[in-house]
Amino acid sequence: SLYSGPLRPQIHYSPPVNFMNDPNGAFVDANGTWHLYYQYNPTEIVAGNQHWGHATSPDLYHWTNHEIAISPENKYEGIFSGSAVVDVNNTSGFFPNQTNGVVAIYTLNTNVSETQQLAYSHDGGYTFTKYSGNPVIDIGSSQFRDPKVIWYEDHWVMSIAYARDFVIGIYTSPDLKSWTHASNISHVGFLGLQYECPNLVKIPMDGETEDTYLLIISINPGAPQGGSFTQYFPGTFNGTHFTPFDGAARILDFGKDNYAGQFFYDSDAHTPGGEPVFVGWASNWQYTQQVPTGPLEGWRSAMTLPRTARLISNATRIGYDLVTRPYAELAPVKGAQLAHSDSVSNSSMQVNYANLTSGAVYFQVTVTNVPNNTFAMGTLNFTFTASASGETLSGGYFFGGDTPFWVNRGKVRGLDNPFFTDKFSTVYLLPETSNTFVLEGVLDRSILELELGGTGARGSELGTLLAYPEARFDALNIASAGVNEGVSVSAAVWALNSVWS
Ligand code: FRU
Repeated sequence: SLYSGPLRPQIHYSPPVNFMNDPNGAFVDANGTWHLYYQYNPTEIVAGNQHWGHATSPDLYHWTNHEIAISPENKYEGIFSGSAVVDVNNTSGFFPNQTNGVVAIYTLNTNVSETQQLAYSHDGGYTFTKYSGNPVIDIGSSQFRDPKVIWYEDHWVMSIAYARDFVIGIYTSPDLKSWTHASNISHVGFLGLQYECPNLVKIPMDGETEDTYLLIISINPGAPQGGSFTQYFPGTFNGTHFTPFDGAARILDFGKDNYAGQFFYDSDAHTPGGEPVFVGWASNWQYTQQVPTGPLEGWRSAMTLPRTARLISNATRIGYDLVTRPYAELAPVKGAQLAHSDSVSNSSMQVNYANLTSGAVYFQVTVTNVPNNTFAMGTLNFTFTASASGETLSGGYFFGGDTPFWVNRGKVRGLDNPFFTDKFSTVYLLPETSNTFVLEGVLDRSILELELGGTGARGSELGTLLAYPEARFDALNIASAGVNEGVSVSAAVWALNSVWS
């Protein structure tokens, strides 16, 4: 099948063929069907000729590919990134006698301009008609894009990037057709060359009864790690103005492969804790058009795992922290437990999974009885090995320094590119009052997603990294050393079931 290539992720979404970038138009409908659109070049394996591709899922893991949803009129146009909403109350007037009308709000890119446009769907998001009154916003700019629309009490709210001015504009509208500029957020956080793909979303925060909002801004290039990255700002929103809680720019992901992400419209109504659901583009503009899946397997780019997101206000050292979890804790794809050990203290656990056809695994290491304000151990490492080639993908904690977590994809040989950085590290939010911490990871053939901190009572860190092995990873070793008296280390590994077979 199209999805059987050795580098093809088995639990992450990727397009059937050709080039994909940003998630677009993400929403969940009243029946609980998740709609994901995406920047898509249906004719080539590199970016260009931008359309909106489309897939749907009952659970955010098992996807059905559909016909392209929105196409340009000619080769000088690109249907760039944007969002979609369900216009339940027919504010737009496009939907007399129906409550499931969908409106897509996107940027039309031409050689000379970027304007904001609408397309509406009477069949719940499968086919769209372009609005005859387009554009709905035209400020005479060629760097003005990526509208993300939400509903606030009694009106629509759009966040949008004035890309090279480092400004996020907030617009309001009663009907999605006429928009009024309400406020600007300017020059916050890392700037790089340009701001892209802003999202403003309501998000739960522990211990907080007032509504909290999260603003995320992607920048490219100019990330601290190089190339593309996403930063976030917790704050308040009153319907027209966003006010960040503090002046800090916080990093969404310490890896290099989580960009241009988007929250699903209305997803907070479909999760138990009212948490919005996020999905990112698991790549980086620095090398996305060179990755080997193009020549080898005919596709390029996958999405990150879908993640629920919430804020905590008391993370160790940094205060506000975004804590994400794989949607439904991976339940729709979690398979058999491959191995478990109650004691990998000063020892190791080896799991060989060459006969696991999905090639996708989830591992979890739990460290308990950690004394307050001290280190639990000397080292805690994980190492994936491709036994046919000797390639390794590894990482772990090296306690005793201020930057205790590292990960290394430099011994995976499938992509030799100066920007495909080998090593990453992060300042892990060590537990100060909690005596447990967790290291988790999903390796899905060519995507590794690491999570430090478990459910994140004191903060957590997310690391997403692509890695293209020449042979299949088929073994995982988990090892600890120098473990302090009384501290216990347990580990377990599960198979992940392919969603494509
Ligand atoms: C982000 C981005 C957006 C733009 C789209 C074009 O990756 O550059 O700003 O709308 O990609 O494909």
